[in-house]
Amino acid sequence: MNRKDFFKFSALAIAGVAVGGSFLESCKKSTTGPQGPDVNFTIDLNDSKYSALSASGGYVYVQNVIIARISDMLDGFIAVAQTCTHQGCTVTYARGSQTFVCPCHGGTYDLNGNVTAGPPPYPIKRYSVSRSGNNLTVSG
Ligand code: FES
Repeated sequence: MNRKDFFKFSALAIAGVAVGGSFLESCKKSTTGPQGPDVNFTIDLNDSKYSALSASGGYVYVQNVIIARISDMLDGFIAVAQTCTHQGCTVTYARGSQTFVCPCHGGTYDLNGNVTAGPPPYPIKRYSVSRSGNNLTVSG
């Protein structure tokens, strides 16, 4: 191998490692725990867009997160990612069973976002929710 061939070989080897490394990294990210976007937002509960949250069992979608009111207590709110980890359908909140339900193939998640039934392979991400007056902040 002459000097020119050596440099060509070295450049190809480095490129191969870089591509392989990023491929493995993307595979790693897709097979970890709870799935959902990183968010940090505040909503005003007085805004009519969020009136469903005035009563237990109501829910709204904000920035790919479903926020549900699970009780009439002041801090009775839960927020999880709205996208089912099976094939990406949007989950709803079922007040009677206090679960998040995917209408596509019957996947269900508990209030922590853990899978309790059906085909979803991973939990959905649960977010921190804090209330200050009429402002509800969701982050995580
Ligand atoms: S997409 Fe939710 S269970 Fe299949």
